[in-house]
Amino acid sequence: MIYFDNSSTTQPDESVLESFMAANHKYYANPASLHVLGREAEALLDRSKEQMLKLVGNENGNVVLTAGGTEANNLAIFGLSEAYRARGNHIITTQIEHPSILQACRKLEDNRFEVDYLSVDEQGLISLDELEKTLRKDTILVSIMHVNNEIGTIQPIRQCAELIKKNSRAIFHSDCVQSYGKLPVNMESLQVDAITISAHKVNGLKNSGALLLKKGVTPQAINFGGGQENGLRSGTVSVPNAVAMAKAMRISSVQEERADYREWRNLLIEACRRYENIQVLSPEYGAPHILSIAFKSINGEVAVNYFQEHGIILSTSSACSSKNKNASHVIEAIGLENKFKNGVIRISFGNTNTKDQLDEFITVLKSFMDLIERGM
Ligand SMILES: Cc1ncc(COP(=O)(O)O)c(C=O)c1O
Repeated sequence: MIYFDNSSTTQPDESVLESFMAANHKYYANPASLHVLGREAEALLDRSKEQMLKLVGNENGNVVLTAGGTEANNLAIFGLSEAYRARGNHIITTQIEHPSILQACRKLEDNRFEVDYLSVDEQGLISLDELEKTLRKDTILVSIMHVNNEIGTIQPIRQCAELIKKNSRAIFHSDCVQSYGKLPVNMESLQVDAITISAHKVNGLKNSGALLLKKGVTPQAINFGGGQENGLRSGTVSVPNAVAMAKAMRISSVQEERADYREWRNLLIEACRRYENIQVLSPEYGAPHILSIAFKSINGEVAVNYFQEHGIILSTSSACSSKNKNASHVIEAIGLENKFKNGVIRISFGNTNTKDQLDEFITVLKSFMDLIERGM
């Protein structure tokens, strides 16, 4: 099988699994324990966190380990809004965030916070003008994703940061779950105060993620118990998970965007443009690993099944929304024409893919389009 669904999740890398197993064998002690095994586990935990921070250019900052990107995003929204509430109650995000940001923001609206959801154009890009006009003196938190998981739009995070700093005292969080490992993610150059990363999107393990924070930026806790992670995330910390996540981040870290993915994506775009019945939804300069296309008057599921029968795995817009029969919030936000709305599929590359697999995809696409043109 050819796996082109890497934005949903990736296959764990062998070296990550080995690190995880080795740490489980030797460093199974509770890192909060005072005995020698506990202290050894704690030292390894600290080293893993230092590596994560270094990899995102945030050596002096902090990491809160979580059970994945969803929890880290929840901690960012609930925890940071509560921590900075004395400054105001206004929050800004976008219409196309992952549900772990959007649903958390909706919940905050029930709790006397005011949330503005920035609109996007047909390529999923926010407008810097709209951001500037929406910022207020009482804006306490802005959360804008780096790369959109459904169509791969890259938001101008650095420019957003400059506007935010100029016009408010807001904390700036960015969901970097889809950008890490494919684009450079450096908190210093992006000028962000907090980012979310999820290990399973970069050949790590599921249920393992982190909220990485600039020094001095501290959310309030959203879960309660033994006070681990400096009181920010109670629950016994899994040192093997931390080791495995640091390893996954290390092996996938990039200083420049993935040029191989960019090249494959360009080839795919070129192939898709040969067919009138296909619309390319992803922006030309979107993330190199995600390509979203839509078939006219054809159900995305039909296409996904056809490709599966021919040995290729991909998904309709995103794994979260693929079981939902309606168009996703992202597809609605970019204002896709009705006749394309049900025909969206997403191809996403990862470390296990090769150029030959891409050629195979293009061949299967051609046979699918021939079939469609002949009326199935
Ligand atoms: C942009 C984005 N943010 C957050 C998440 C949630 O991450 P996790 O699956 O680790 O909870 C995902 C997962 O699909 C994502 O694509």
